[in-house]
Amino acid sequence: MSYQFPKNFWWGSAASGPQTEGVFEGDHKGENIWDYWYKTQPDKFFNQVGPNLTSQVYQKYQEDIQLMVETGHNSFRTSIQWSRLIPDPTTGVINEAAVKFYNQLIDDLLANGIDPFINLYHFDMPMILQEKGGWESLEVVELYVAYAKTCFELFGDRVKKWFTHNEPIVPVEGGYLYGWHYPDKVDLKAGIQVLYHEALASAKAIAAYHAMDLDGEIGIVLNLTPTYPRDEQNEADLAAAQFVDGFFNRSFLDPAVKGHFPQDMIDWAKANELLPQTTPEDLAIIAENIVDLLGVNYYQPRRAKAKETPVEKREAGLLPEDFYDVYDMPGKKMNPYRGWEIYEKGIYDTLINLKENYGNIRCYISENGMGVEGEERFVNSNGMIEDDYRIEFVTEHLKWVHRAIQEGSQVQGYHMWTCMDNWSWLNAYKNRYGFVAVDLDNDAKRTIKKSGYWFKTVRDNNGF
Ligand code: NOJ
Repeated sequence: MSYQFPKNFWWGSAASGPQTEGVFEGDHKGENIWDYWYKTQPDKFFNQVGPNLTSQVYQKYQEDIQLMVETGHNSFRTSIQWSRLIPDPTTGVINEAAVKFYNQLIDDLLANGIDPFINLYHFDMPMILQEKGGWESLEVVELYVAYAKTCFELFGDRVKKWFTHNEPIVPVEGGYLYGWHYPDKVDLKAGIQVLYHEALASAKAIAAYHAMDLDGEIGIVLNLTPTYPRDEQNEADLAAAQFVDGFFNRSFLDPAVKGHFPQDMIDWAKANELLPQTTPEDLAIIAENIVDLLGVNYYQPRRAKAKETPVEKREAGLLPEDFYDVYDMPGKKMNPYRGWEIYEKGIYDTLINLKENYGNIRCYISENGMGVEGEERFVNSNGMIEDDYRIEFVTEHLKWVHRAIQEGSQVQGYHMWTCMDNWSWLNAYKNRYGFVAVDLDNDAKRTIKKSGYWFKTVRDNNGF
């Protein structure tokens, strides 16, 4: 059977500034929370590899754009690093070296037939602003909107696809619940305030973008995790799954697409004294400024069952898992090279959910991909990584995307995470995701993997 995709489908990949650029001491970049965390606690990072090294895109972007051409890209998402563009956001002074870098990157992408999709925030709070409370602070929300406007003014003549955040639930989980992001707190109430401020910042940036009347559109990238109950006939399991979906998905999806927070989550937060501080004026801004399109990152589903284990009494207070238990479904398919579930149909369920419950909002798959630990073991005698497992992973997901399109989903593209192997936060280079291998011991030398050549054939045929 052949799988043909609609005309003008976006084929490409995603990355982010802080995970790829490197050089945080050169060219006047300001410090962000990752630079700071690495400087003060390098042992937290796998093999002690920090954001200063990354894949050196800052120096090698021209070579990388050629590799994107060779791997079939017609579009590519990355993020501007706030702390590179405006090293001290309290002054608003722009770093001209950063403007030059991002201008060259954007121009070279366009010159090579690759549409740049630009995200404004990919987990990289400037340290100076984290000291003011980061997303806990309303002042930081305003400074983010000023930064967003600067980006639209500088690059909005050429960039036609903007995103306000990548995976905004992750700074909540990582920074305020589970310790994988700075400020490494356990504080659900503060995390919910952060969630609200991120949603508000997004709406305000969308308002600013629309007010500038540029030729383009703006959305948000959400990691959606379709949530399945242990037993669909069991009310308590269903309620547990609804809670998980509410907290991890709908708390951003609903304000982004419908302009309001989900009522069941508001009720839950109220009952548990977790409601954030809001104002009617700010809630009206969220109501009036919804996204033009959505980026959907899909990796794996969540599975939930009713709470059976006792609720933990901890000094830091409640956590989301005090309201459900994770259901470890027997026989589920796992990525053998990294402990994540593989459930291809989840991508289809997500797209159909958007079609049926979110007005069939236009969207694209902004990330999907397979992390592999120890990938060098698959290098063949010609020095190429034979990642057939990745080809199979993408193929199977694309089949479900195709089916969703046939059933009316307005999904307009598919971006892999990622093109060049890159740095993944505390995991650093442990899991490799790229179409192109990066050899850290050899001046970040790039070598296209088998999947990269394969993806080019998919793009050339607009399907497979
Ligand atoms: C999601 C994030 O956007 C990205 O930063 C991360 O590295 C990948 N997924 C892989 O986990």
